[in-house]
This record gives sequence, structure tokens and C-alpha cells, in this order.
Amino acid sequence: MKVAIPKERREHETRVAASPETVTKLKALGLDVVVEAGAGDQARMLDADYQEAGATIAASAMDALKDADIVFKVQRPLPEEIGYMKRGAMLAAILSPYNDPDAMKACADAGVNAFAMEFMPRITRAQSMDVLSSQSNLAGYKAVLDAANVYGRAFPMMMTAAGSIAPARVMVMGAGVAGLQAIATAKRLGAIVSATDVRPAAKEQVESLGGTFVMVESDETKEAETSGGYAKEMSDEYKQKQAALIADTIKKQDIVICTALIPGKPAPKLISEEMVKSMKPGSVIIDLAVEQGGNCAFAKLGDIVDVDGVSIVGHHNVPGRLPADASALYAKNLLNFITPLINAESGALEIDWEDEIITGTCLTKDGAIVHPNFAEGGQS
Ligand code: NAI
Repeated sequence: MKVAIPKERREHETRVAASPETVTKLKALGLDVVVEAGAGDQARMLDADYQEAGATIAASAMDALKDADIVFKVQRPLPEEIGYMKRGAMLAAILSPYNDPDAMKACADAGVNAFAMEFMPRITRAQSMDVLSSQSNLAGYKAVLDAANVYGRAFPMMMTAAGSIAPARVMVMGAGVAGLQAIATAKRLGAIVSATDVRPAAKEQVESLGGTFVMVESDETKEAETSGGYAKEMSDEYKQKQAALIADTIKKQDIVICTALIPGKPAPKLISEEMVKSMKPGSVIIDLAVEQGGNCAFAKLGDIVDVDGVSIVGHHNVPGRLPADASALYAKNLLNFITPLINAESGALEIDWEDEIITGTCLTKDGAIVHPNFAEGGQS
């Protein structure tokens, strides 16, 4: 059984889907591992490190992929990469089928059995395979550092002989994995932190990190969390009440970190143009949701927009701004996903197609789109 790790070719992608550490462990499972030359360069994981761990280096994507049984990628493959894969190969990656249904169809047409790692069910057994958590955690941390970098002032309160500096006020929109890490990071830097969410369960978590929780409570919020732990889209009436609360809070903030997402839907718009204009010049908004349309008006992917002195930052691929750690954790997620699927004695791939980890993540199988959200009659 051969596992291939091609180089990532999509724009702004710095990560790689295996680390020398996971290569050693894949080898111990009895798998042959081939890594495309230079695949880990941006994550500072060098060809020589992979070789030392037991991998073979392939000169091109085609050489890596042509007879691979299992393919690990960070992002969905390009059409030519799918073309190099053999029928029956298994692919595990962040496939973004809502954004790119054509890539999913191309996998089905090529007979590639594709697994979307971002659809991992949030069950205890799958926690170590949860790529959204491993990557969002780093994104939340980096968002605060990015904010500190743009902000022309310090975060902590400082009492000096030359005078006092007030602590920065940071507000975090969405207290999920990224938001909670942003709260913890901003607190460590000495800021006064508040956060909001639509899931009442977030209150205790925010407060346990030393943040103040601000939220519109209503009967609707009791139902705001899906069984999978994600938020639902709220009613127009709720959105209006939430907008009034945010409008009142945001003008007192120096930094806002936006992390609010609804799976499969555009990001909720939480900060209007008017709200941005109500903020003090010098304030900074980091919009981590910008790739899903953004939480903030004016946010532009790949840009820092200045509106009356307020900077709105919309970086691409924030976990990829920490490529070494993001790759190491992502590679571990994939290792933890594949390990139970490999027969310890024969080294063969044995997939239990009824297992909820498989049914939750499998998009295409034997030439067809099989995921309930996308298969014929499913909701997309
Ligand atoms: P996410 O990335 O989909 O969304 C980020 C946050 O935005 C969420 O907390 C969500 O409630 C919030 N949000 C959505 N719409 C909003 C709105 N209109 N206004 C304000 N906030 C809004 O979610 P994430 O971070 O992936 O996870 C959410 C929760 O899932 C976690 O807090 C946790 O409870 C649970 N979880 C469970 C895991 C498990 O294995 N059991 C692993 C990771 C997370």
C-alpha cells in the first residue's frame, strides 16, 4: 500500500499533509510513503527529513500520485492531480465541496474515493482527527498577533515614569475553537476581553478564560446549537437585536477578532459599515471569516482595508501563516484518521463503510457522490 503526499499547488497554501514524524508512523503501519520533492519546504520540513523518516521522494506530482492507494493533501487537488490518481485510490483532504462542487464531481468521475476532513463528526472518538479544531486553534492565536502587529498601541496596561498606557479592549465575535484561543491569547497579552456568540454554552467557556460574555438571550438561542456543536443561522428578528447590542459594544473596542461561521453557509454579517465608522481611528478588525464572505463589511480577502483610520484585515489562509505547526497538527489528524483503517496484520486498507466517521466524511465512492448533503435529493 502506497501513501502519496504531493506538494500543495493552490494559491496561498503553505502547509503540507505529512510531517517527518507522521511518515515514521505511517511506515510503522506497514505503508510505503512517497513525498513529492519540496512538498514541505514552506513548513520547514525538508526532503532530507522525510527521507530520513523512511519516505521516498518523487520528482513530480505525477510520479507521486500515479500508483498511490492513499493520497493525503491539505486542499482539494487540482484537476490535473485528480487525473494522475488511479481508480479506487482514497483521497483525504479539506475538500470544500460547498465552494467547489466540480472538484467533488471530478473525484467521482475519476473513481477516487474522496474524504472531506472538515466534515469530521464532532464525537469523542474523532477529536484527534478534527482538522477544523487543529487549524482554527492556530488561526485564533495568529489573529491576535496579526492585530497586535497592525495596532499602533500596546495591549497591556503599562504604568511608566513617562505616563500610563491603557489596556487594549478586544472583542471576539464567535466563541468557538478560534474565538476561545483568541480570547486566551489576547488575555495573555494583557487586553480586556469580551466575546459574543449565539450558543449559550459559550458563556461558561468565555468566562473561564477571563472574558466577559455579551449576548442577546432569547428562546431562539436555546436551539442555536446543532447536535454537531455548530451554530444555526438566526432569524431576522434575532439578527436585529444582536446588531443593536454589537453596535453599542463595538464603538468602545480597540480590536475586534471575527470568527463566526455557519457550516455550509456564508459567514453571518455581524459588523455593518456604520459600526466600523463608529470605531475610533487606529482600531483594528481581523476578519477570520473573510474566506466565507466575512463577518465585517469592507473586509476584502487578501487585503488590509482602511476606513477612516480603522484597519480591516482579511488575510488568506490564517493557519497557513503558521505553516510548521499547522502542518504538524494537520498531518497528525490524517495519521489518526488512517490508522484505524489499516489492518495491523496485512497492512491493507479496510474501511467500515457504515462507521459514522466514514459516512460523515466520505463524499465520493466507486464513481458516485455519496455524501447525504450532496447525493441526489440531498441538501447542499
Ligand atoms: P465554527 O467555526 O463553525 O464557528 C465559530 C463560532 O461562531 C461558533 O462558536 C459559532 O457558534 C459562532 N457563531 C456562528 N454564528 C454566529 C453569530 N451569528 N453570532 C455570533 N457567533 C456566531 O465553530 P467551531 O469553532 O468549529 O466549533 C463550535 C463548537 O463546537 C465549539 O465551541 C465546541 O463546543 C464544539 N466542538 C466540539 C468538538 C468535539 O470534538 N466534541 C471539537 C471542536 C469543537
